[in-house]
Amino acid sequence: MIKPLIAVSALSLAMASAIGPVFAADVGQAPAKNIVVFYPGSSGMEWILTGTEHGGAKAVKKGEPCTGCHVDEKTGMNESAEIGAKILSGAKSKNAALEPEPVKGKPGSIPVSVQASHDADNLYLRFTWKNTGFLSGNKMDPDNPLKLAVMLEEIGKVELDSTGGCWATCHNDVRTMPGVKDDKKTKYVKDGNLATGKFFDLFQFRSGSGQKMVDGHIADKRVMEGGMALQEAKGELNGDTWTVNFKRKLKGGDGDVTLQPGKEYNFGFAIHDDYTIGRYHYVSFGYTLGLGNAGASINAVKQ
Ligand code: HEC
Repeated sequence: MIKPLIAVSALSLAMASAIGPVFAADVGQAPAKNIVVFYPGSSGMEWILTGTEHGGAKAVKKGEPCTGCHVDEKTGMNESAEIGAKILSGAKSKNAALEPEPVKGKPGSIPVSVQASHDADNLYLRFTWKNTGFLSGNKMDPDNPLKLAVMLEEIGKVELDSTGGCWATCHNDVRTMPGVKDDKKTKYVKDGNLATGKFFDLFQFRSGSGQKMVDGHIADKRVMEGGMALQEAKGELNGDTWTVNFKRKLKGGDGDVTLQPGKEYNFGFAIHDDYTIGRYHYVSFGYTLGLGNAGASINAVKQ
């Protein structure tokens, strides 16, 4: 039963690429990179930088990226799963628990396969992982069982960008952090400013009815509109496997990082599954995305 199915899909992929540039087929041929996204709890940038709370604080301030201590691609050592499981269990990290509202049975991390390619005009990204299901029993965002957001940044613009990854935008005084009453205060970066390039580009897929795509940025606050680069965001839950595809122009408008072949950019992503919002998501450490740049953590191959 399985064999004929594979034959059919291989045939339809071959037909699709013969007819024209069907991006989903092409990015599917790019090398897959496994990135573990994990549950960060309330470990905002202020927590990361406090030495009495986080063993890596001093090194992060000096420029050591999270992956320098927590992930070693050569040996395969990756603490993301361990960190996520510990936080989601409600266990104390040094002085306090990073998740005061643990959810039983929810995995602390999810391994995600990431593929990237590009042509003269567009970047294509594909994310694939096993669905975790509705485990919390609490639909914080009842419209969207799943959201996947990607952040890109021009290396060297935002303070602590390469060392902090997405944490450079994540602070302990933003909405949904423990003790924060303000439900309007969103992510931001220090001295955020579109004109000076101090921002993270942000785009998102939402799985709710009809599926939506969002193209925004994070400067002095998070703006979920205005981007002009994102062309398509499509997702599919097939059995227990999620696949989300993005098509993004290399060059957009204000709040869109311009991507140039040969270069690399800071890259991170987050998955809000289980109908979650705010900090109740799975995040990646900071990685880099290159366009035909083998030195980057993820290399978007030229089609
Ligand atoms: C110099 C090494 C180093 C760097 C760089 C580093 N960390 Fe850590 N991190 C540690 C150590 C050591 C621990 C174990 C707990 C402790 O002693 O603080 C830890 C623990 C953590 C924990 C809590 C998990 C637990 O065990 O309770 C989180 C979350 C975390 N780090 C996130 C990050 C993030 C995000 C970055 C990048 C912005 C980062 N770390 C950079 C060394 C580092």
